[in-house]
Amino acid sequence: MRKRHSLPLQLALIALAIVGAAALVGAAASPGKPSAQLVIASTVDVKGKTSPCGCSIPKGGFARRASFLDSLRAQDGAVALVDAGGFFPEPNDYEDNAAFMMETMVLLHTDAVGMGEKELRWGRGFLKAQIARTKLPVVCANLLDRQSKKPFVATSLVKKIGSTKVGFFGLMSDKVDTGPSRDSLLVEEPTAAATRTVAALKKQGATVIVLLSQLGKVESEDLVTAVPGIDLVIVGRNVPLLQKGRMILNTLACYGGEQGQYLGVSRLDLSPQGRMTSGVNEMSILDPTVPEHPQVLAAVKGFEEAFNEKLRRKEKERVASQAGAQTSNNGLEVDHFLGAEVCARCHTSEAEQWRTTAHARAWETLVDHKVDARPDCIPCHVVGYQKPGGFKTGDDAAKLADVQCENCHGMGTNHEKYAETRITEATCKGCHDATASPRFDFALFEPHIRHVKPDVLPELPAKPKVSKMVGSATMGSSH
Ligand code: HEC
Ligand code: HEC
Ligand code: HEC
Ligand code: HEC
Repeated sequence: MRKRHSLPLQLALIALAIVGAAALVGAAASPGKPSAQLVIASTVDVKGKTSPCGCSIPKGGFARRASFLDSLRAQDGAVALVDAGGFFPEPNDYEDNAAFMMETMVLLHTDAVGMGEKELRWGRGFLKAQIARTKLPVVCANLLDRQSKKPFVATSLVKKIGSTKVGFFGLMSDKVDTGPSRDSLLVEEPTAAATRTVAALKKQGATVIVLLSQLGKVESEDLVTAVPGIDLVIVGRNVPLLQKGRMILNTLACYGGEQGQYLGVSRLDLSPQGRMTSGVNEMSILDPTVPEHPQVLAAVKGFEEAFNEKLRRKEKERVASQAGAQTSNNGLEVDHFLGAEVCARCHTSEAEQWRTTAHARAWETLVDHKVDARPDCIPCHVVGYQKPGGFKTGDDAAKLADVQCENCHGMGTNHEKYAETRITEATCKGCHDATASPRFDFALFEPHIRHVKPDVLPELPAKPKVSKMVGSATMGSSH
């Protein structure tokens, strides 16, 4: 079996890549047998997600992506890996996460990467510095410096994947706000830029052309209809996931969903001249049946723990500096949360029962997973996140952590209105939504939280299990 660089070696190399060696990226296309098929794996709109989602079926993460790619590469030889942009995270203060995303994409041998307005959220200087540091091959054909009219990053690149010369280029929408650098950057109308870039790529000998699009669904489809010569488009920017892609005239389109929960696998059949004759693609779910690549997992965990710690320190400082303002905010004139301890003083039996439920352990779950400083995890696992008197990282942690009385009954200062409010399924679904709790069924779940325990408790649907997938033994375990 053909072997690629072992991961420890790759990890050693990334240090080199950071100080300036571009070699690692070049290693992505291992020389394959003259292939009649070109395989292109893709992600899009990953939004800074480094590990699996906190959903009930945790999907995605770099470690699974890495082992899935290993198995693809073992099976198909030359496989190109691309990302169509939108990989920067959404929260503020997440610059470190953005930088880690880029390093790790290089570590996974990503061949070409598109970009959009998300990647410009911390300004052009930040992105440029990270590209220089990591050597991530970012392309965008229609983002120009307003003054010089020169492209801001490479417009495109040509790379040999197996024996096929593949041209990659990126486009972003000209209808978006380009963030802090809006005065110095210009997004050109995409059709003209695409026509020009496709011609240039053909001139450089590319026989297959791939567009990494941050144009959104409709604009991407219009573009490949208007501009001939694009064989594959990875459609990104708020695009719903389609299990199987489809042909738009002569272009195969791949709709990859978001947050790195799936990997798109596009298979292009090639003529002897290396041109696409037909193609199909399908989204592969990165669920718990996909093993986690141990070294990549270690890198991700190392980053996340340090980052969580840093966020916690920052939040504490912020809370401390606002301490004065907070006291007046907690004044009785504003409705606010009180915490379960206050309720327990009078409602002892309800409080005792509550302590036996999973809700009373919801915070511990986040602490155990070392995600207790992440703004995308906290809201459903605490009381009143960022609301008056609600949970803030730091001093209040003990008092307002967990899913408590007020998550269901409402703010304690509204106590006299409790009698008028019925708790319904909608109360639960604010947290037990389709993503976090797909197995939720009010009729089965409600008896479990009832303050007076019913004689017979219905059994809850099984938690999504990690079933052994056929063939998973070969995935990633060979390294
Ligand atoms: C000082 C004691 C005290 C505290 C503190 C207190 N309660 Fe009560 N609560 C009562 C009493 C007394 C009643 C019954 C009022 C009545 O008879 O209408 C009540 C009623 C209720 C009811 C039932 C309303 C109905 O009639 O359907 C709920 C729910 C409730 N409390 C929740 C809470 C929650 C949640 C907290 C904490 C935020 C809390 N209580 C804090 C004393 C207290
Ligand atoms: C503020 C968010 C929130 C609300 C509102 C909420 N839950 Fe939950 N619920 C959670 C979280 C988070 C967990 C998981 C706790 C853990 O184990 O870490 C959970 C767990 C549960 C469990 C335990 C499941 C198991 O596998 O043991 C039951 C049962 C449940 N919730 C029922 C309900 C019902 C019924 C309602 C509405 C009346 C409700 N919840 C409202 C967040 C919420
Ligand atoms: C939209 C609300 C919501 C958000 C946001 C959320 N959770 Fe949860 N989480 C829940 C609910 C509800 C449950 C219980 C699901 C069930 O049992 O069906 C849960 C359960 C869990 C569990 C399983 C606990 C157990 O032992 O069964 C873990 C782990 C978890 N969440 C981690 C996370 C992480 C990590 C994040 C951030 C990436 C996150 N959650 C964000 C609502 C949420
Ligand atoms: C997961 C949601 C949930 C949580 C958490 C919760 N309750 Fe309730 N509570 C209910 C529901 C549902 C009822 C039934 C009455 C209704 O439908 O409004 C209820 C009823 C009550 C009542 C009315 C008397 C009774 O026992 O039926 C009191 C008092 C009460 N809760 C207090 C509390 C206190 C105190 C806490 C926290 C220690 C708490 N609840 C946590 C959902 C919740």
